[in-house]
Amino acid sequence: DAGEHESYMRKEILEQPTTAQAVLRGRLDERFGTAHLGGLDMDARDLRAVRRVKILGCGSAYYVGQMGAALIEELARIPADAEAASEFRYRNPVIEPDTLYVAVSQSGETIDTLLAVQEVRRKGGRCVGLVNVVGSAIARECDGGIYLHAGPEVAVASTKALTNMFLAFALLALQLGRVRDLSIADGKRLVAGLERLPGQIEEVLAGEADLVEVAHSLAEAESLFFIGRVRGFPVAREGAQKFKEISYRHAEAYQTSELKHGPLALIDPAVPTVALVPQDELTERNIGALHEIAARSGPLVVVTHEDVGLGGIDARRVVVPRNEPELDPILLTIPLQLLAYHAAQHLGHDIDKPRNLAKSVTVE
Ligand code: BG6
Repeated sequence: DAGEHESYMRKEILEQPTTAQAVLRGRLDERFGTAHLGGLDMDARDLRAVRRVKILGCGSAYYVGQMGAALIEELARIPADAEAASEFRYRNPVIEPDTLYVAVSQSGETIDTLLAVQEVRRKGGRCVGLVNVVGSAIARECDGGIYLHAGPEVAVASTKALTNMFLAFALLALQLGRVRDLSIADGKRLVAGLERLPGQIEEVLAGEADLVEVAHSLAEAESLFFIGRVRGFPVAREGAQKFKEISYRHAEAYQTSELKHGPLALIDPAVPTVALVPQDELTERNIGALHEIAARSGPLVVVTHEDVGLGGIDARRVVVPRNEPELDPILLTIPLQLLAYHAAQHLGHDIDKPRNLAKSVTVE
């Protein structure tokens, strides 16, 4: 049971430093700056033959798939994108022989994802799985894969499994990159970054107490935005998803760059925005968008790095440690889990079993 913890979700959030180590264990190669993924069942020639990557999953698995696609494009320079498996399976997709399909699922039993995998394989595509539950239907249906080793996840809202999905994508991206143009120096830089991550996740979790009051203030809002761009946008989508699932507040994710093309019309003192502003090549532009929100008296929570100055903007800062920029998404995600959790707890909801939702949707 959840033991001393008031919920499985909190227990699973706090387990992440340990479970993150489990997905990396034995898979990092410091000497050559790459990863070893025996379960994929693909040799260097197979990996080099991949011309495109298509990631399929539902809910949080779909959003982390978008994070994974960005990582693969950045590190391996292969076009990659993610699609909701629930849509893919209904649209008679073109299956290409040199595309690597990647199914992502905690349970390994989600019917939409399973049927998407079957459609890929029926049409001759190669599909590998990023799956947590060993021997599950999706794991069995795939050509090979990467087990997530997150341990049993009970809360409906996925936390530790999602983190391990991201890390598994990082391993896959490294391997795809290192049989192409990713340099050994960059490979080593990322291997070292991955080795630092579990400790940094622990640091973020150690700051939980500072987030409680912020979460309570967000819980008071009827509606809120989560914004990020490029690497940060899927993080915003995941953050909004988590928040709406367990707090029942309307939470909408938007690209920071699209704010001025629509949602700015809704910003006022009653609509808070949670903004992801890591130190990267887009920091200045992101801060420009924060000024637009502040000018309309929109309350702001900014998840950022220590050395980012907000130019006098009135905002609550949530600081996460710096790692390699490509790996930022997962450290930005952890505080959003805690914000959703403490908002839902403040509102008195059943955190582990939100209304109308199931841990895995296995029937049509
Ligand atoms: C949804 C769950 O129905 O299924 C989500 O409520 C989950 O939390 C999604 O992310 C996908 O589940 P799985 O097991 O395929 O990762």
